[in-house]
Amino acid sequence: MSLKDQFGKDVLLTGWGHSNFGKLTDETLESLIVKVSAEAIRNSGLEPRDIDEIYLGQFNSGMQPLGFTSSLALQVSGELANIPATRTENACASGSAAFQQGVKSVLAGTARNVLVIGAEKMTDAGADVVGAALLGASYEMAGKASTTGFTGLFAEVAKHYEKRYGAGITGPGFSGGLGDVLGSIAAKNHRNGMDNPYAQMHRDFGEEFCRTVSEKNPMVAEPLRRTDCSPVSDGAAAVVLSLGPASGAATEPVRLAGFGHANDFFPADRRDPTEFAATRVSWERALGMAGVGIGGLDFAEVHDCFTIAELIMYEAMGLTPRGEGFRAVREGWVYKDGKLPVNVSGGLKAKGHPVGATGVSQHVIAAMQLTGTAGAMQLPGVRRGAVQNMGGVGIANYVSVLESV
Ligand code: COA
Repeated sequence: MSLKDQFGKDVLLTGWGHSNFGKLTDETLESLIVKVSAEAIRNSGLEPRDIDEIYLGQFNSGMQPLGFTSSLALQVSGELANIPATRTENACASGSAAFQQGVKSVLAGTARNVLVIGAEKMTDAGADVVGAALLGASYEMAGKASTTGFTGLFAEVAKHYEKRYGAGITGPGFSGGLGDVLGSIAAKNHRNGMDNPYAQMHRDFGEEFCRTVSEKNPMVAEPLRRTDCSPVSDGAAAVVLSLGPASGAATEPVRLAGFGHANDFFPADRRDPTEFAATRVSWERALGMAGVGIGGLDFAEVHDCFTIAELIMYEAMGLTPRGEGFRAVREGWVYKDGKLPVNVSGGLKAKGHPVGATGVSQHVIAAMQLTGTAGAMQLPGVRRGAVQNMGGVGIANYVSVLESV
């Protein structure tokens, strides 16, 4: 099954660009957007005049005073004058929202080449402003004072999960229950991040450090320690979506095999906190469109904004039944040499999480894997991978399945 079978045409990722992630004091939101956009167009083998439309994913929500950013990418070239450009906002999934809108423009035949960008500049604002902006993605907490920010929301998820499933977490090396599993996920992603030149954190903390509360690894919102959280980040990524390959591209293109999007109800009392139900639907839609099961994937980049999110993701993507996600860690399935390596880039945990950039970054990293250009991150012989990006606590959910051509 392919997009061509269903829509009569393929959508290819023909070029991409990625900035470093981190606290980027020498960059502005505009400079990041322009840099990755120029890189993506250059690598696609196209000229700026060949781009028909632009989508920019950015959350903002008060982190930057400039609230109207769709035209910033036009600074790449005078040839982009008059191009339709739109900003998409779907909290931490704003980047994937831009990606899927771009896909739909290509499928609709209204564009042959679309530039998709994800960008966020978070570190210009103080921690209080960033915390309040992120809480804008919570139905209950938007505009309210909080000492634990978004971490507090995922800490509640972890508490519910522990209560329902904690006793079932067993096996050698997991006597500490949920806390040990989350610590192992953090250690895995920090280890993986060492191989990612774009990552914000190049620190191989190790299991012991990540599993233990200490002065250097304090509790942020019980049971989540600092190492259970993604950092506050700046960064951008861009990708060109095309109907066909262009001569002169830097690499082979990558084919989009399937995509899915599902939004859940916003109020917390409309959702089971231990299950990202709409995330599961977005996985089913994307895998169904691609005509593959979870066993048909060679790797996945998933939304580990907090380690508990990655654990529940193993269940939402169908790797294990509910409550048994820890087995994916215990049996080694999600490690670099496992049957489904998850977050070989270091994930949001180590790579960083400039929220609007994340979804596009995940697609770029997957494209690198599928074209054999991922450098030290490269997995051997991979042909198909998935990308999953989430806004809020399982609210806006996007999955893409990508394949080598
Ligand atoms: N993981 C591991 N280490 C981290 C880290 C993280 N997420 N964030 C910061 N650090 C390290 C820093 O490198 C620094 O190390 P050093 O002292 O050895 O140099 C140290 O911790 C202190 O850094 P600081 O920036 O002062 O940390 P902080 O306590 O102010 O912030 C968090 C840490 C976890 C509270 C902050 O990163 C955060 O709020 N993260 C969540 C962001 C979020 O909600 N995103 C949206 C998700 S949906």
